[in-house]
Amino acid sequence: MRASQLLDEIAAVGRDRVRGGFSRHAFDPAEGELRTWFVERAQRLGLDVETDRNGNIWAWWGTPGPDAVVTGSHLDSVPGGGAFDGPLGVVSALDAVEALQAKGFVPGKPFAVVVFAEEEGGRFGVPCLGSRLLTGSIDADRARALRDPDGVTLAEAASRAGHDPERFGADPEALSRIGRFIELHVEQGRGLIDLGSPVAVGSTVIAHGRWRFSFSGQGNHAGATLIGDRHDPMIPAAAVVAAARRAALATGDGRATVGRLVPTPGGTNVIASTVDLWLDARVPGDKRTQALVAEITEAAEEAALAEGCLITVSEESYSDTVTFDAGLRDELSKRLGGVPELPTGAGHDAGVLAAHVPSGMLYVRNPTGVSHAPEEFAEVADVDHGARALAAVLEHLST
Ligand code: GLV
Ligand code: MN
Ligand code: MN
Repeated sequence: MRASQLLDEIAAVGRDRVRGGFSRHAFDPAEGELRTWFVERAQRLGLDVETDRNGNIWAWWGTPGPDAVVTGSHLDSVPGGGAFDGPLGVVSALDAVEALQAKGFVPGKPFAVVVFAEEEGGRFGVPCLGSRLLTGSIDADRARALRDPDGVTLAEAASRAGHDPERFGADPEALSRIGRFIELHVEQGRGLIDLGSPVAVGSTVIAHGRWRFSFSGQGNHAGATLIGDRHDPMIPAAAVVAAARRAALATGDGRATVGRLVPTPGGTNVIASTVDLWLDARVPGDKRTQALVAEITEAAEEAALAEGCLITVSEESYSDTVTFDAGLRDELSKRLGGVPELPTGAGHDAGVLAAHVPSGMLYVRNPTGVSHAPEEFAEVADVDHGARALAAVLEHLST
């Protein structure tokens, strides 16, 4: 089945009737349904499927082994996300295998399609959790204790979904089998629109991270408490939002976002007692993201002090700039007739793996330039073109 038809097959799974788009979160029923669908689709292609100790699914074409050519992406989404971020790389991998099989190709190396768990951090906060656990770049105890917005730990959610969280942790054996990793992904900005090309090869991933700001004050009555008598944690929280925009603008090329803010108890006529918010900050280059966060933190501390509130700030994840393997980039670009290279402001499992194995990415044009929202899009012709490009690259690498 073509990649675009495979996307149609899963178009009803995890639709979010409240937010719009899709909400498919790690170890929830929608993501579970997609996992089952993937296993069935992979088995129909004759692939042998196994789930590793961290909940990542591997579908092997032929015998598993070292120096494998591995491709894949993720099936989870952000809350209310689009249809392509993640699934496009998975369906394109299945399409590529089917196309290669149809022409009688047999890989000369071990070959696998992988689905990584919790790429977005949409449920447990830390992105690329499956690949971070696999590579040992997050401590397993810390991961197990991560909580979703309802207070359910990753360990609890994983065991409810039939996994054994005690086995979470670095998996040197699985890692040592990957020879090269290629992730195809929908483009998440306007890069390919501007370049007028359906496909590009990834060059770099911007440095990025997430910080949690927690403010506590005094919950109180919205009518009976005079403005001058308040310790309202929403005031320093608002200062973070404003400082994030101001400081990011001043960097020239940095980005800072507060996309999630939770007041407790959360009543219209209630001054909050606490506010938690999450800052997503990304600046190209070394140490500039930390400098941006330090500036925003300073503004937050000043605002908290002025309001008589307490503040704590903690880093939940951070990833340095990634430059994809130059040799692999050249190979991909040449194999595809000289397609352009493109940097990205989005994080990916390929970025996590790049510190350990030669990794590369292909991007498929997104005519809206919008991602992490229901308007994310790719034309059928570009989706199928991307899958053909992936097949060509995989054939070359595994010959
Ligand atoms: C994932 O898409 C991210 O960049 O946050
Ligand atoms: Mn993604
Ligand atoms: Mn994403």
